[in-house]
Amino acid sequence: MQSEHLFDVVIIGSGAAGLDLALTVASGGAKTAVLAKRDMEETSTYQAQGGIAAVLDPSDSFQAHIRDTLIAGAGLCDEEAVRFVVENGPAAIQRLIDYGARFTPAEEPGGYPYHLTREGGHSARRIIHAADATGKETEDTLAEQARRHPNISIFENFMAIDIIREILPGRGHGRAVGVYALNKALDEVDLFRARVIALATGGASKAYLYTSNPDTSTGDGIAMGWRAGCRIANMEFEQFHPTCLYHPQAKSQLISEAVRGEGGRLLLPDGERFMKRFDKRGELAPRDIVARAIDHEMKRLGIEHVYLDISHKPADFITSHFPNIYEACLKYGYDMTKEPIPVVPAAHYTCGGVMVDKRARTDVENLYAVGETTYTGLHGANRLASNSLLECLVYGEAAGRDILRQLEDIPAPPALPMWDASRVTNSDELVVVSHNWDELRRFMWDYVGIVRTTKRLQRARHRVDLLHEEITEYYADFRVSADLLELRNLTLVAYLIIRSAMARKESRGLHYTLDYPEPVESRRHPTILTPKRFTGWSSA
Ligand code: FAD
Ligand code: SIN
Repeated sequence: MQSEHLFDVVIIGSGAAGLDLALTVASGGAKTAVLAKRDMEETSTYQAQGGIAAVLDPSDSFQAHIRDTLIAGAGLCDEEAVRFVVENGPAAIQRLIDYGARFTPAEEPGGYPYHLTREGGHSARRIIHAADATGKETEDTLAEQARRHPNISIFENFMAIDIIREILPGRGHGRAVGVYALNKALDEVDLFRARVIALATGGASKAYLYTSNPDTSTGDGIAMGWRAGCRIANMEFEQFHPTCLYHPQAKSQLISEAVRGEGGRLLLPDGERFMKRFDKRGELAPRDIVARAIDHEMKRLGIEHVYLDISHKPADFITSHFPNIYEACLKYGYDMTKEPIPVVPAAHYTCGGVMVDKRARTDVENLYAVGETTYTGLHGANRLASNSLLECLVYGEAAGRDILRQLEDIPAPPALPMWDASRVTNSDELVVVSHNWDELRRFMWDYVGIVRTTKRLQRARHRVDLLHEEITEYYADFRVSADLLELRNLTLVAYLIIRSAMARKESRGLHYTLDYPEPVESRRHPTILTPKRFTGWSSA
């Protein structure tokens, strides 16, 4: 049985960005729904390891954090956005602590009360963390607050399909008034009406065969935003984390950058510590450089992984700083206190996304977007480690405040039609979905990965166009399922990544192409795609 729900604010996503936003608006009195397409805690946020970057130590400075972020961003950051996030960082951390987050205390008394670790690209120790499970602490803290809040209703296993807009003459793409969502338990599509909708759906790294991300990262918010009329920026900048555990069963086991921050060394099979050949910062060079160096060495030597070694540090130092990573490695037969562990790069973070301003407003009235699903200008061509949870928190709160300022003046949503499934049937060819899902992720890995060429991008473009055609037809004929919806979104996101990569005729930050191996000053601007131009993709 289909249901209809009415709220002031509907937030799609229950990670750090969605929950921080939910708590802000709910505390201001807004009746708020949070939708999560799986269990509430199944998020990238939950899996974050290293920590959250913020200027917390008196010897550190906003200027230094801003400078490090701009350097990592390779000339493409929006300096105002960087300043906004960095300067609001300490308050965001304090908010988490006030909500009850327990971070690792300082080893020495007398200074800043929490331990601050270091990661690549940071010129100071400024990463606050909860051992190597910062994300779990963050997610658990926010989720507990949200579950207790009388103004927040949580809808787990509800998958948003598309934003519903009321088209108003002379008002751009109209205004967001609702969302259709698949209730996975009942296999029905419900209608949510609201004054304000927010996308907080995380990244799109599942577009790649190998990824550090959970299964939720299928770029749904980017795809829904595009179909609703939002501009999408900088999708060519997919960040590959240099070190995921290499093991056939270790699906997406990240080995935190903090391991290198605390002295871990990258080694070739013959024991050579190779990073200094690529960058004088060695293992602590920004991620794009480290991932590319590993990729280069793997291809040069025909090897399937390199090694990460921290076994020169005392065993109790390793087990106290990295208890979860230590246990995870042990489960796969590697004792990191005694031996190097095999590692490979994997798709990790989507720097581009739905364009928003400093209040997290998108191009569509009353549609907001926060967290990894957005392009705020903070990351430029490459994200500095541990800046993303910070961005989730700073923009989550900024969006919430902006919504509260306006809510009273936003009219209630109009009556809307329920989802119409009268013209579709049950699919008798589920293999189409599973086959296309595998194909997409493999060609994205092979052709649109760490090192690109124009030829490979053209091949990928050709394939994604074919997939799009097939999936559009399938979507029109058959009842929706979570797998079909994710494939439909991933195909669109892959298209946006490929188009953006083809448009950038230079190498910069995370985008490296053998055909244009150097940065070109005249091309130093974001890649912005506007849905109107590609009519075949623009509507639900
Ligand atoms: P997420 O936390 O990914 O949450 C997305 C939510 O959206 C989920 O609830 C999901 O169910 C929901 N959703 C998605 N699509 C739909 C839909 N169609 N309908 C309904 N719900 C939907 N960053 C750091 O700053 N520091 C770190 O140490 C760090 N470590 C990381 C380690 C790992 C292994 C990974 C994967 C990432 C790490 N990151 C780190 C990145 C950071 O965790 C993410 O960028 C951040 O958590 C994203 O938060 P979010 O709220 O935007 O999205
Ligand atoms: C890590 O712990 O290496 C991940 C940090 C990040 O992605 O910011």
